[in-house]
Amino acid sequence: MQHTRTRALFEEAKKYIPYGVNSNFRYWGDDETPIIYRGEGAHVWDADDNRFIDYRLGFGPIILGHAYPAVTRRVAEAIQSGVLFAATTPVEIEVAERFTRMTGMDKVRLSNTGTEANMHALRIARAYTGREKFIKFEGNYHGNFDYVMFSGPTANAEMLGPRAKPHRVSATDGMPLSVRNFLISLPYNDMEMLDRTFAEQGEELAAVLVEPMMGNVAGIVADLAWLRRLRDLCTRYGVVLIFDEVKTGFRVARGGAQEYFGVRADVAAYAKAMGNGFPVAAVAGRNAIMAVVEPGRVAHGGTYCGNVVAASAAAATLEIIESQPVIETIVARGRALMDGISALLAQRSIVHVVSGVPSMFSVLLGSDKAPTDYRSYSTFDAELFGKLGKALIANGVLVDDDPREPWFLSYSHSEAVIADTLTRVETAINDAFGKRKPLRSAA
Ligand SMILES: Cc1ncc(COP(=O)(O)O)c(C=O)c1O
Repeated sequence: MQHTRTRALFEEAKKYIPYGVNSNFRYWGDDETPIIYRGEGAHVWDADDNRFIDYRLGFGPIILGHAYPAVTRRVAEAIQSGVLFAATTPVEIEVAERFTRMTGMDKVRLSNTGTEANMHALRIARAYTGREKFIKFEGNYHGNFDYVMFSGPTANAEMLGPRAKPHRVSATDGMPLSVRNFLISLPYNDMEMLDRTFAEQGEELAAVLVEPMMGNVAGIVADLAWLRRLRDLCTRYGVVLIFDEVKTGFRVARGGAQEYFGVRADVAAYAKAMGNGFPVAAVAGRNAIMAVVEPGRVAHGGTYCGNVVAASAAAATLEIIESQPVIETIVARGRALMDGISALLAQRSIVHVVSGVPSMFSVLLGSDKAPTDYRSYSTFDAELFGKLGKALIANGVLVDDDPREPWFLSYSHSEAVIADTLTRVETAINDAFGKRKPLRSAA
């Protein structure tokens, strides 16, 4: 692959943009950070015109495929008549009606990013309960606002402290230290710690904020019994259960993780798949709780909330997800890809787990014990996957070379694309680990 133009552009980018990227997660090093100029369906092209099968999908939003014609057409038509009016538009009503039907939530407010949606969810929960503290789980990521930036997917697992008394590991400089006092950080899927924390502090909790599947740590799935216990404890102690459905919403089922697990949240934050890549998000919840959002009482707002571009993209995307077999198709093809990758690794005796669900999974090397939380994820060999990840990219399969970030599938990943991917995965395994030589990891 040629990288001449990509490298030249990246040097140019660094002159004006810190690290040449507009989000820290996009920086892969001076020699490896991609510059993409075009996408169509399941493919993207970099600045040197190298074509990749895309499994990053913009960190998950592209549920239908890049430049999906029905979505771009709807947006292109809508913007001819203006994009922002500081007033409700008919398309926002259309989105809200479909959104509430699909998710089972009573009321919804649109915003622009997952960060904003979670931030509002937490504020609403605090206003509703009149309490301030909340629980979040190790490895869960809820966006870039201070209250939640502890013990997330970038934390050094060795810094997390004893399981029975977890530390709150800061994810960034620049936050007031006292912010951590509002947070109780717990290991994911740990029933005992959950019970103990509620028994000791349940009356002080405004909310539990949880990713029902760890969209930023290998797609680790919540244990159903644990999730049900969480639901019961929140009900018993009057705590607002907030699902962060930013990655699971409209991806793991039409009604997101709530439908997938059959467990209802009180409030949920959505973004990503809701707009097929256009910046749209939502905070939604039960009538009684959303009723606190009231002028002069609980602030929710923003100049661009519900703008015509975002709302039109959501209207088109949700209509397609609701009326076509988008989820079923992605699940079937994702399952074939997960099984195919697993079989190729097994043929070479490479110890591995393919974790997560078909629309959002990770390939983990160095152990065959499925991870259940951030601590057990950290026993896998990220560097070993890094080698495979780089070989995949060199073979035209664009994944994150960090195994925490899942592979995502879209409706445009056809059976032919999956077959093409598996051929490339086989070559990449040979490139990364050598031909035929069986490889056994120490772990
Ligand atoms: C589960 C989850 N919540 C929240 C966010 C933040 O969303 P945004 O980047 O749109 O602010 C992300 C982003 O990746 C996410 O994965």
